Amino acid sequence: MEINEQHHGVERTMRALVQHSHGGPKDQSLTTDQRRPTPGAGEYLIRVGAAGVNFADVMQTRGTYAGGPQAPYVAGFEAAGEIVAVGPEVADALEVGAHVVGAGPGAFAQYMTMPAAEALAVPSGWTDAEALGLVLNWATALAALKPLGEVERGDAVLIHAAAGGVGQAAVRLAHHYGARVIATASPAKHGTVKALGAEAVLDSTRPDLTAEITRLTGGVDLVLESVGRATFQVSLAVTQPFTGRIVVFGAASGNAGLTTHDLVFTHPVQVKGLHIGTLAAAAPSIYGELLAELDTLIAAGVYLPGTPQVHPLSEGPAVLRELEAGRTHGKHALDPWR
Ligand SMILES: NC(=O)c1ccc[n+]([C@@H]2O[C@H](COP(=O)([O-])OP(=O)(O)OC[C@H]3O[C@@H](n4cnc5c(N)ncnc54)[C@H](OP(=O)(O)O)[C@@H]3O)[C@@H](O)[C@H]2O)c1
Repeated sequence: MEINEQHHGVERTMRALVQHSHGGPKDQSLTTDQRRPTPGAGEYLIRVGAAGVNFADVMQTRGTYAGGPQAPYVAGFEAAGEIVAVGPEVADALEVGAHVVGAGPGAFAQYMTMPAAEALAVPSGWTDAEALGLVLNWATALAALKPLGEVERGDAVLIHAAAGGVGQAAVRLAHHYGARVIATASPAKHGTVKALGAEAVLDSTRPDLTAEITRLTGGVDLVLESVGRATFQVSLAVTQPFTGRIVVFGAASGNAGLTTHDLVFTHPVQVKGLHIGTLAAAAPSIYGELLAELDTLIAAGVYLPGTPQVHPLSEGPAVLRELEAGRTHGKHALDPWR
C-alpha cells in the first residue's frame, strides 16, 4: 500500500524520549523535534496512544539487554495506538484507523513503527492504555505457566516479583488454573498480591525464605523466576526434585549461575528458559495457541482491561528510576501527547 506522508495530518517531527548513553535512566531526555519514523516493509506506522514501561527498558538504558539498541536511540518498545499508515508487503493488513498493541522500536514517542506480524488488535471497547501488557506481560506469564510450566490444578506455584507487571498477570492466571500460589514481593506490595488470589505472600529478602516455602508447600511444582541472583538459589532449593519446573524469564537483580554439577548432584530439577519475542519467532504454533488462550481469557472475563498508571512522557526517566529501584507496583505507562 502507498504511504501517504500527510495521512491523518501526521507530523514530520515529534516528541520522543531519547536515550543518549548506556548510563541508565538519567541519560534519557525529552526532545520535541525527533524525526518521525517511516514504516518499512512489513510494518505499520502507529500514532502511539500509550507506551508500556517494562523492566527491559531499564536494562536497555544500561546496555544489558541482549540485542538491545545502541545509544543514542528513541527509548521504549511496547505501545498501543492507531495505525496511521501501512508500509509495503504487509500481509492481511489491518485498516488504517484500527488500534493495535504490540512491540517495536522507539515506543516512547508520538509515532513509532511496529512489525505488523507482532501487532494484535486492541480488544473491542478497550482503550490503548487498557490494552498494554497483552503481549509483554500476559503472554509471558501464560507461556511461563502453561506450555513451559505445565501447570496443573493443585500445583504449588512460586511466583517471584509478584506485584510487578508480569507478576500480577501470573498470579491471576495461576489462581485461575487452580494452582496454589506462593508469591514473593517487597512488604509494601503484599496487599496487592494477596488481593489477586495468592495463598501466601513472602518478603523475598527474609533469611528463612527456603524453609518457609518448604514448610508451606512441601516443595513447589513450578517456579516463575524473573529476579535472578537474589532468588535463584531459593528457587532451586524449594523445587520438587525431577518433577519440579523452574521457568527463567528474567534477572532483575542480576545474573545467577547453574552448573552441570548442580543439576546432577544437588538440584535435579527441570530448568526452562523463556523470551516471549523469541518464542513468537521460533515456536509460532505455541505462540498462536497462547494468543488464542488470551482471547478465551478475555471473553471469560479472567483477563480484564489493564489499569496502568499513566504518566506524561516527560516523566519517563523518573518512572524508569522507580522501576529500577523496585519501588513500582503493577504496570506503568507513558502518554506521549501529555
Ligand atoms: N523473557 C521475557 O520475554 C520477558 C518479558 C517480560 C518481562 N520479563 C522480565 O520479567 C521481569 C518482570 O518484568 P516487569 O516489566 O513486569 O517488571 P516488574 O516486575 O514490574 O519490576 C521488577 C520487580 O522485580 C523485583 N526485584 C527484585 N529484586 C530486584 C532488584 N534487585 N532490582 C530491581 N527489581 C527487583 C521488584 O519487585 P519487589 O520489590 O516486589 O521484589 C521489582 O518491582 C523482569 O525481570 C523482566 O526483565 C521477561
